[in-house]
Amino acid sequence: MYFSSSAPDLPSLFTAILYAIRGVKMKFSHSLPALAAGLAAITSPAAANDGTLVPLVFSPLPLGSIAPTGWLKSQFHLMADGLAGHQHDFYNYVAHSTWLGGGKEYSDLNEGLPYWFNGLVYLAYSIDDERLKEQVHSAAGYILDHQWDDGWIGPENKTARNFWARMPLFLGMTGLAEANQTWGEKIVPALWKFNGLMNTMLKDNYTGYWYQAGDVVTGGDTDWGRVRHQDMLITLQWLYEHHRGDQGEVLLENMKMLHDGGLRWEDWYDQAAYFGQGMDKDLNTLDSNLTDENYAYEHGVNVGQGLKAVAVVRRFTRNDSLVQTAMDGVNWTFTYHGSPSGTILADERLVGLAPYSGSEFCTAVETTYSLAYLYQALGTNYYADRAERIAFNAIPSLATPDWWGRQYMEQPNQPYATNLSTSPFYNTNSWGVTYGLEPNYPCCTVNHPQGYPKFLANSYVRMGDNGMAHALLSPGTATAVLSGGKVTVECDTAYPFLDTLNYTVEAEAAFDFYLRVPAWATSSASIKIGSNSNALSPDTETGMHKLSLSKGTTTLTYALQSSLRTEARENNTISVYKGALLYALEVTNYNTSTPPKPYTNPSFGTEYYNASYYPPQSRDWQYHSTSKWNYAIDPTTLVYHGPETGSMKLNDPVFEAGGPPGYVTAMGCEVEWPMAFNGSVPGYPPVGAERKCVGEKVEVRLVAYGSARTRMAELPVLI
Ligand SMILES: *[C@@H]1O[C@H](CO)[C@@H](O)[C@H](O)[C@H]1NC(C)=O
Ligand SMILES: *[C@@H]1O[C@H](CO)[C@@H](O)[C@H](O)[C@H]1NC(C)=O
Ligand SMILES: *[C@@H]1O[C@H](CO)[C@@H](O)[C@H](O)[C@H]1NC(C)=O
Ligand SMILES: *[C@@H]1O[C@H](CO)[C@@H](O)[C@H](O)[C@H]1NC(C)=O
Ligand SMILES: *[C@@H]1O[C@H](CO)[C@@H](O)[C@H](O)[C@H]1NC(C)=O
Ligand SMILES: *[C@@H]1O[C@H](CO)[C@@H](O)[C@H](O)[C@H]1NC(C)=O
Ligand SMILES: *[C@@H]1O[C@H](CO)[C@@H](O)[C@H](O)[C@H]1NC(C)=O
Ligand SMILES: *[C@@H]1O[C@H](CO)[C@@H](O)[C@H](O)[C@H]1NC(C)=O
Ligand SMILES: *[C@@H]1O[C@H](CO)[C@@H](O)[C@H](O)[C@H]1NC(C)=O
Ligand SMILES: *[C@@H]1O[C@H](CO)[C@@H](O)[C@H](O)[C@H]1NC(C)=O
Ligand SMILES: *[C@@H]1O[C@H](CO)[C@@H](O)[C@H](O)[C@H]1NC(C)=O
Ligand SMILES: *[C@@H]1O[C@H](CO)[C@@H](O)[C@H](O)[C@H]1NC(C)=O
Repeated sequence: MYFSSSAPDLPSLFTAILYAIRGVKMKFSHSLPALAAGLAAITSPAAANDGTLVPLVFSPLPLGSIAPTGWLKSQFHLMADGLAGHQHDFYNYVAHSTWLGGGKEYSDLNEGLPYWFNGLVYLAYSIDDERLKEQVHSAAGYILDHQWDDGWIGPENKTARNFWARMPLFLGMTGLAEANQTWGEKIVPALWKFNGLMNTMLKDNYTGYWYQAGDVVTGGDTDWGRVRHQDMLITLQWLYEHHRGDQGEVLLENMKMLHDGGLRWEDWYDQAAYFGQGMDKDLNTLDSNLTDENYAYEHGVNVGQGLKAVAVVRRFTRNDSLVQTAMDGVNWTFTYHGSPSGTILADERLVGLAPYSGSEFCTAVETTYSLAYLYQALGTNYYADRAERIAFNAIPSLATPDWWGRQYMEQPNQPYATNLSTSPFYNTNSWGVTYGLEPNYPCCTVNHPQGYPKFLANSYVRMGDNGMAHALLSPGTATAVLSGGKVTVECDTAYPFLDTLNYTVEAEAAFDFYLRVPAWATSSASIKIGSNSNALSPDTETGMHKLSLSKGTTTLTYALQSSLRTEARENNTISVYKGALLYALEVTNYNTSTPPKPYTNPSFGTEYYNASYYPPQSRDWQYHSTSKWNYAIDPTTLVYHGPETGSMKLNDPVFEAGGPPGYVTAMGCEVEWPMAFNGSVPGYPPVGAERKCVGEKVEVRLVAYGSARTRMAELPVLI
């Protein structure tokens, strides 16, 4: 359905000829009859859903339909000009990856280039950046030209083929196919061929899910494909719905076998299994009841990726009890491991709620994508609020303001981001909270770029045949061809820094426009069209307020209203929110930097990369605090300062210290707050009689978490 609205309107005969020429030129193509049979499918409108797959509640728009504007556009350009946009020039695990004929990999999972590709396709096409598009085209071209005779894609030869790295690669490939038909004509047949091989492999004792005898096995990582199989199912479902060719049966059979042989999240999100595991991590020890045998379900990145799994699986099993399983999985994850910034505490394995617990950048971007997917698939407003929370708080806090450095682990209470004297983390070294090229491990260098681009690509959605919705609120412009005709929606806003969103809509025909109303919005939220102000009546499940707009141009102002609110955390502490933003106690800082350290870093930070390897903008940064962090606050004194509505020019970069326009004050006092892990981090906040002021009451300032690389987000309540 949406393919027909997105595909450039090449006459099908012309497309067929083009395609046939490409088919013949394909290096390893043997089976022209099969390709010819598939031709009809790629040139005709995609098969409408035939009832085999449960439809998504909202359909995504093809990549390239949505462009960022305002502050988000600036973030995209910072990423393009920063680490994301330069890895292809120099970074070993991209520029010299085995996928591109080089020899550099950080692990035998070979996932570096695929992770990068998944993010960069979305970044490049969202801002239509020629330099970045050239990067992804050249990588895609090399990879597709080197597809093996038997259909395998990627560097491994026959002996050690693991499906896993293909999963993020294919998510990028499907985006590229949507955004650029020329590439679609190469990508779709390559995926069909791979699909055929995968069928043979899965039937051969699930080869591809584990390494074969004689290969180097690196512990639990061999389960990564099995526990992440939903990321392959998404590609198979995309093919099934939009480019089925003659592969319908094989695609369905592969979905079933991937699930049958996979590690199934519905087994884990079962009351008995999940709660059989103790979740707390004791102070000053790394003791935990989480067991290694379940590590695949407990590794934070897997958890982030896996949150969407049962919704993906439900599409072909049609088992509606998985709707509740999805909610249980998300609810339990955030209840027992949720960070106030919206991400999942797991350093690198799930931990309890201690405010020094860490959370990987990879986890934040994967969780954002999963929550956006869950909202599209199941339509429950809760998922969309959670997607916005993580996108506007956790993601920016994990990057330097210029996007040249990235953290590995963020902590809710992170009063400094330096080389810690002892690592408080389950499996991350003392540099985990610093920012740079590859502190601790390279995965977050290659995977962080998908965060904002995937968020944007899921921000506007189609609803039914003739509806369009703003699902994840943010500044952006989207175009879609609905059943009535073309619609362009432009959203001009400083949201989430201000709660007003202005829209200009151009429609060739009347259509339904939906605006999502966040759960935190107060009842005085309204939509003004011309001089008419309408109160909102959002759907109780989706949170969508429906507007029937007529043909032509409509301008409207969507005025949300929010009040300061707090959420209770462990040990009688609170986190403070206004709208979609988290506010944390400001801890001022200065920074120092060094050349980037190799993550293998045998001398723990005294060995640096040779300057001819990295661009001069790539530095490793530490932030050292210059103010006290050990405050308790009186929540009854919280006051928001800043513009509430109207238009304003935001600072750029908006997430640098002092960047966001609003801040919060409260009365507080210093308390004695014991350190943990040999004095490396603040421990659990003092409770009861031990929580007493050790200084005068003073006014303290809370700032947007995303702008605060040193801060305290879980604050003891003054008693
Ligand atoms: C792949 O394996 C085959 C046989 O196992 C071998 O002949 C061939 O050289 C290998 N190719 C590469 C690129 O490693
Ligand atoms: C699509 O890809 C082709 C081949 O790389 C390229 O020439 C063309 O400019 C791309 N189109 C767009 C809109 O980026
Ligand atoms: C299937 O693969 C698993 C995992 O490598 C192995 O333990 C098992 O013996 C294999 N079964 C057969 C029939 O080859
Ligand atoms: C549907 O999913 C639930 C939850 O995982 C499971 O208990 C049940 O057995 C499934 N039903 C079928 C028919 O597979
Ligand atoms: C954690 O394990 C200990 C024994 O190692 C056991 O006594 C305790 O009940 C477990 N806690 C939970 C919450 O399962
Ligand atoms: C979340 O899980 C907790 C613990 O099982 C339960 O008390 C609560 O009702 C659940 N909330 C939702 C929204 O499902
Ligand atoms: C970083 O911290 C570790 C201990 O946590 C220490 O061994 C190492 O020397 C420190 N490196 C530098 C450069 O200070
Ligand atoms: C503080 O919270 C942790 C859980 O994060 C809990 O285990 C601990 O008992 C609490 N401390 C006190 C003194 O209540
Ligand atoms: C380091 O501090 C300087 C001075 O405040 C600032 O201009 C610069 O942006 C900071 N660098 C990073 C990476 O935060
Ligand atoms: C520095 O790196 C460049 C490029 O990677 C390499 O050619 C050169 O030999 C290196 N120099 C030293 C002293 O390691
Ligand atoms: C939205 O439109 C209103 C009314 O035209 C205007 O006052 C306001 O400044 C605009 N806000 C933004 C963020 O553009
Ligand atoms: C504290 O440091 C000592 C000495 O370096 C070390 O043996 C101990 O394991 C550390 N404790 C913790 C909780 O890391």
